[in-house]
Amino acid sequence: MHIAVIGSGYVGLVAAACFAELGHTVVCVDNDEQKLEALQRGETPIHEVYLPELLQRHRGLRLSYSGSVAEAVRASSVIFIAVGTPPLESGDADLSYVEAVAREIAFSLNGYKVIVEKSTVPVYTSEWLKRVIRLTCPENEEFDVVSNPEFLREGTAVTDFLYPDRIVIGADSERSREVLEQVYLPLLSGSYYEQAHRIPEPGELADRVKVIYTSAKSAELIKHASNAFLAMKISFINAVANVCEAVEADVEEVRRGMGSDARIGSAFLRAGIGYGGSCFPKDVAAFRSVAEQARCSFRLLDEVIAINEEQRSRFIAKVREALWTLKGKRVGVLGLAFKGGTDDVRESPAIAIVKSLLAQQCAIQAYDPAAMKGARNILGDSIAYAGDAYEAAQGADALLILTDWEEFAALDLERLKQVLRYPIIIDGRNLYSLETMQSSGLMYVSMGRPVIQHPSSATRKLKSGELAK
Ligand code: UDX
Repeated sequence: MHIAVIGSGYVGLVAAACFAELGHTVVCVDNDEQKLEALQRGETPIHEVYLPELLQRHRGLRLSYSGSVAEAVRASSVIFIAVGTPPLESGDADLSYVEAVAREIAFSLNGYKVIVEKSTVPVYTSEWLKRVIRLTCPENEEFDVVSNPEFLREGTAVTDFLYPDRIVIGADSERSREVLEQVYLPLLSGSYYEQAHRIPEPGELADRVKVIYTSAKSAELIKHASNAFLAMKISFINAVANVCEAVEADVEEVRRGMGSDARIGSAFLRAGIGYGGSCFPKDVAAFRSVAEQARCSFRLLDEVIAINEEQRSRFIAKVREALWTLKGKRVGVLGLAFKGGTDDVRESPAIAIVKSLLAQQCAIQAYDPAAMKGARNILGDSIAYAGDAYEAAQGADALLILTDWEEFAALDLERLKQVLRYPIIIDGRNLYSLETMQSSGLMYVSMGRPVIQHPSSATRKLKSGELAK
């Protein structure tokens, strides 16, 4: 099939590469010329496992890049809209890019096309798209609008795409539903999984990819409701973590107990400094707004957002409690990305915490395996950038873990103790077991678990008056 993907951000680029991997001829459109040139040169603009391989494998063969929506539309029978839907001040999604693309598509229709919403959009967007395209396109042109939301996590987006736990097809006509089935046929029939050069499966291969057929409106709601529900799980466990702290229980034990109930499940029950990224904060706010506009009170979402924001202040309070005063303290920071496995710093709780510490006159030295460039764009020279975790810890009054990178869960604790000015770790992601930290000789503060006080070393420094610098 000939497919156009409009917008080559995280979602669009991954989708385009994966459609090419499934055997389709794909043109990926963007209006950012520099980005197009970089893609044409074979560069991968984002940190995403397997994406460089796929872009390399299909570039110039089944995958091309273009700045022209019109040309791409004329050459394709299915057009995926994957442009940004950033939040407006009100929390509503800004749909102006989607609308502008819809008009461009409408001008270029030449025969029946299926126009697919891939970006996360509020319910009713499909109706608006139909209306705008109908009013703009030449008379009698045939088209359908389908909602086919993505559930891709950054860092594992390629395998999430090729090994999905479900594909939601929100189509209001039989004809468009069949077109979407053709698009995903190699996954639905399983033929992709028999290919020798397939991207390797991330875990056990399910018998069959589940397809869920719905109306376009229901599909739009599935996306918003899913993300809001996951965000709610995170805020729920964070609120439980706060209770755990108050009564000296251990949230990791509570999580294990709760999560083993199949009705609850343990995923997305990791306590920490709160969720971030380009999706959850935006989608929860947009869904709240959708509910409000539909005159449905959904105050639960207000609380989800409030708990998430409070987690950051609670973390800062922990830092203050461990260090007494903040002004003039040197703080090592591990992690700037909004989660491990990505270079994305959008809505990163780590960045928010760093900004807050800077405002309280701490000196920050930070390290992230992939997000240094993104962080520098936001923080500039206000912090020092370290070459690795130990350099970030060097001479610091405390070391903060703010992102759940795997390598931060396997640090040489003895070495850290040597390089830190004071042996204090404040872990916003609960990467270490209390048993490990108990024997490490470090003070260890985490989320929803008892504090492990450091034994002799800090006391010694305290006695010598060093801590009161
Ligand atoms: C999310 C959805 O998972 C995906 O389906 C959707 O399409 C896009 O949004 P992503 O933003 O890549 O994906 O990140 P995700 O892995 O879901 O994590 C979101 C945030 O929640 C991160 O900041 C992460 O650190 C945090 N999180 C996640 C927790 O704090 N605790 C958890 O248990 C899980």
